[in-house]
Amino acid sequence: MLEQTFVIIKPDAVAAGNVGAILSRYEEAGLRIHRMDLRVIDGSFADRHYVEHLERDYYPPLREFMTEGPLIALVLTGDGAVARVRALHGATDPSVADHGTIRADFAESTRRNAVHASDSPETAAREIGLWFGEG
Ligand code: PPS
Repeated sequence: MLEQTFVIIKPDAVAAGNVGAILSRYEEAGLRIHRMDLRVIDGSFADRHYVEHLERDYYPPLREFMTEGPLIALVLTGDGAVARVRALHGATDPSVADHGTIRADFAESTRRNAVHASDSPETAAREIGLWFGEG
């Protein structure tokens, strides 16, 4: 089923010059870019994105990291895009991510882990609305 998902290429990957290589992974898998924007977010916007994580002990340094420099916000489309993008990304902790996944190849740590993707179609709808509005 044709689906949309929301992706962030995080500040670590942008600073390291890995944007093109990461975008190629999606395109080579048959996914297509529907929206794309390079932006810097502030802490209050990070709080809205990570609303389910605000009380976690890992959140304050994650907030600091996500606001440290430019990131790429993306909407990708394709059959089963939500699950396929998460498979391309690999595990949150890159030390256990499968060989050949984006996090295995480009992430530094569980915090500085190169990419974010929506975990369900419902989350994708919320995140796309937050980052890009309804259009
Ligand atoms: S994921 O990728 O959505 O499956 O990740 P999840 O386990 O749900 O965690 C949500 C986000 O919190 C970050 N996270 C952490 N950062 C630092 N240290 C620890 N221990 C940690 N645990 C989780 C993780 O990078 C996820 O960020 P996003 O942007 O959602 O990938």
